[in-house]
Amino acid sequence: MVQATGREHPETGGMPVNDLSEDQAARELAWLAAQLQAANTAYHRDDAPDISDADYDALKQRNAAIEAQFPELKRADSPSEVVGGAIAEGFGKVQHVVRMLSLGNAFSDDEVTEFDQRIRKYLGLPDDAPLAYTAEPKIDGLSLSLRYEDGTLVQAATRGDGAVGENVTANARTIADIPQQLRGAPDVLEVRGEVYMSHADFAALNERQKVAGAKTFANPRNAAAGSLRQLDAEITKSRPLRFFAYAWGDLSAPLAETQSAAIARLAALGFSTNPLTVTCDGPDQLIAHYTQIEEQRANLGYDIDGVVYKVDDLALQRRLGFRSTTPRWAIAHKFPAELAWTVLEAIDIQVGRTGALSPVARLRPVTVGGVVVSNATLHNEDYIAGRGGDGNPIREGRDIRVGDWVQVYRAGDVIPKIKDVDLGRRPDDARPYAFPDVCPECQSAAIREAGDAVRRCTGGMICPAQAVEKLKHFVSRAAFDIEGLGAKQVEQFYSDGWITTPADIFTLRDRFGTGLQQLKNREGWGEKSASNLFDAIDDKRQISLARLIYSLGIRHVGENSATLLANHYGTWAAFEQAMTQATVGSGPAWDDLIAIDGVGAVMATSVITTLQQEAERDSIDRLVAALDVQAAQAVATDSPVAGKTVVFTGTLERMTRAEAKARAEALGAKVSGSVSAKTDILVAGPGAGSKATKAAELGVETMDEDAWLALIGTA
Ligand code: IVH
Repeated sequence: MVQATGREHPETGGMPVNDLSEDQAARELAWLAAQLQAANTAYHRDDAPDISDADYDALKQRNAAIEAQFPELKRADSPSEVVGGAIAEGFGKVQHVVRMLSLGNAFSDDEVTEFDQRIRKYLGLPDDAPLAYTAEPKIDGLSLSLRYEDGTLVQAATRGDGAVGENVTANARTIADIPQQLRGAPDVLEVRGEVYMSHADFAALNERQKVAGAKTFANPRNAAAGSLRQLDAEITKSRPLRFFAYAWGDLSAPLAETQSAAIARLAALGFSTNPLTVTCDGPDQLIAHYTQIEEQRANLGYDIDGVVYKVDDLALQRRLGFRSTTPRWAIAHKFPAELAWTVLEAIDIQVGRTGALSPVARLRPVTVGGVVVSNATLHNEDYIAGRGGDGNPIREGRDIRVGDWVQVYRAGDVIPKIKDVDLGRRPDDARPYAFPDVCPECQSAAIREAGDAVRRCTGGMICPAQAVEKLKHFVSRAAFDIEGLGAKQVEQFYSDGWITTPADIFTLRDRFGTGLQQLKNREGWGEKSASNLFDAIDDKRQISLARLIYSLGIRHVGENSATLLANHYGTWAAFEQAMTQATVGSGPAWDDLIAIDGVGAVMATSVITTLQQEAERDSIDRLVAALDVQAAQAVATDSPVAGKTVVFTGTLERMTRAEAKARAEALGAKVSGSVSAKTDILVAGPGAGSKATKAAELGVETMDEDAWLALIGTA
């Protein structure tokens, strides 16, 4: 057994790193890895450090020095990659049975009222009908899903991208708030909630980390995340994590009929639930509770960043359902952003994947709400000049200059922003900022089109910044997410001329696979990592249509819109054909596109023009030829209306039009606004007029609302 004594390696320990042979270096690195790992275990698991901090540091430094001299010998389990005791990669993946969603946000009282109005409208509830909500703190931690089968905790998973998370079961078992066994629970029960760290525990942990010479954490949330995501569960065990349950996923039997009763049931099963959870009967009470929680915020002892409102009646929650990533029945009312003043040291211009020139503020570092901020967005040239999107003055017309004192704020996780400027502290020599009219990356003209707030580089694919940003977007997590091919590698490959468009990624193996020489000789690449990369690329040849559309980086098409497009067109062939045939502004393909709920004229124009632009299209076609694009999964393929085109007309009495449409779509049907030969079913309520006549002429199956509900199984 290797002893963690902190002494030197018996053979080479005293030798200068320069004098080591490769073999000797490899042997000493292996020895150091074992020594340091043993020391970590002694410290974290056994609470019995058997090596002094100074010896520990000396071993780490020796390890780093040898790695610097022999980078190719760096081990997969290198101690220099161990942050606070574990390697930051390598959890198993867990596919969530029920997706883990995020929440929409409200930032003002008006938005809370609008939330209530939207729900009433969707459900067809009059303004004076009772409608109860729950209100509870939004815990600022990380969400966790716990799966119990027959009362036993069998799996714990982080949220990940919502569909697939990381398996952190061993770690979750070390958290005292998480029961291992439940009595009286449904056979299958997934409990969801937030892992967090209290302020006191956070301060104590950072103190311990400091003493141990280990990394300290910026805030309790980072500390909680860093502690839960440890490959060595013993480390998690040594960290004081807590858990509040507030939701559920997969279930074999309902927990209750209301949100509040379901939470009470979770509490009765032994989970911690938040004591500040109440039920309210409308926006006024919700806002009153928000104000109360905001007053208590500083004294709660843990971080919260808002209040979450949920429709209490679970049957109504089911009817309301989900948009692509957020429930219609819940919203997070966020606390106002935190503010700080600092000096604007410089303004840099970044060029994005659509050519947008974005001004970035370089700030004298300042702490805003517990996080050190040194960069912030300045939006666009009008924002710097003190003009809003409508041309009217903002900040009473005060412009922002390098050298100014500026007010920085951050709300949630978003990029910090500049809110205001202090003219009283403006240096005498500060000059108005001159926004560049050429691209700083490729010197092409940067043009601002009428009605566009943003100045854009006209260089297209010749602009290296645009090309690289497009590639970075392409490999990002919500897009192709290729292991081993991140932003850094993309930059390297682009500057080497190996990859200029996404399609080039898929020919890398053919171009380098046999010799491997060029890649292998690059700093940071060995034979194994290169072949792993090629495998990871091949793994992603099979890709869902939604991801593919998203990864193309089409302006205005985010993840949600890509999902809408994929679900509507189903296959790449159908999508591509429709976009090729469409004309902007009119015609059947255009009408069909903008009929999609959530697709407007601006996005539609952007998609069509991109797919019809020759160079762009050539690059997309080469990409698609290298892929196996999976057709969009109709949300339900086994429903009797999957794939059918349905039209609703007349008055619906048991649901609103919006609800009818959303439910039909969730069952895989296409909902159209007009009757044609393609229509499969017309659902006609009282007062149906010309559409019913036309359907009869065309021989389209027609039914009333009750028959429709019977057909879809919710009568
Ligand atoms: S409900 C389907 N309740 O906020 C909705 N989420 O921004 C499920 N969060 O991912 C979430 N406190 O990590 C809910 N009381 C609370 C919460 C809460 C914190 C987190 C959660 C979620 C994120 C959404």
